[in-house]
Amino acid sequence: MIKVAIIIGSTRPGRNGKAVAHWVHDLAAKRDDAEFELVDLKDFDLPHLDEVMPAAVGQYSHPHTQAWATKIASFDAYVFVTPEYNHSTSGALKNAIDFLYAEWNNKAAGFVSYGSNGGTRAVEHLRLVMGELQVADVRAQVALSLFTDFEHFSVLKPSVQQGDALVAMLDQVIAWGRALRPLRK
Ligand SMILES: Cc1cc2nc3c(=O)[nH]c(=O)nc-3n(C[C@H](O)[C@H](O)[C@H](O)COP(=O)(O)O)c2cc1C
Repeated sequence: MIKVAIIIGSTRPGRNGKAVAHWVHDLAAKRDDAEFELVDLKDFDLPHLDEVMPAAVGQYSHPHTQAWATKIASFDAYVFVTPEYNHSTSGALKNAIDFLYAEWNNKAAGFVSYGSNGGTRAVEHLRLVMGELQVADVRAQVALSLFTDFEHFSVLKPSVQQGDALVAMLDQVIAWGRALRPLRK
């Protein structure tokens, strides 16, 4: 069975990202076609990128990089839960992505974003990054509005349609995560 990480892409105190990621995990965990695990960037406490060699070289000198690499390498696919900060993803998520290379290659990914306009501009930026990392990002995505899927911009109350969109995205992530297996061998 393939393993899917649900990556919490914000680290801010009081972040909405944690509730969004738990909603994703609660719904995903009901499925029996993949295993899902929450991965919280906060737990890895990565500094700003501090490796001498580019990640594509694969020489990780710091224990924090090695721990992050071991975790990310253990998955077949990813769901990135991203806020929109200034029309892009969070600096913390971009930094965490930049730390690694081979660990991301030939995996599948989907996105759950949130923001005033659903966070879709953050996802568009992430799709560019995924191309460079040889990650197959699926078309279906979830875009939660701070106005209609949250109460007071802080209490997550997603509509039924957002749950349907999440199921569609997970279907695609799992299908592509499986299909890419031969390339990962
Ligand atoms: C630095 C910063 C920049 C933001 N820029 C945008 C933006 O460009 N577009 C948008 O829709 N929301 C923007 N927001 C609102 C965030 O999407 C919203 O606060 C969201 O809850 C942030 O995610 P987090 O709570 O998990 O940190 C911004 C918030 C912050 C903190």
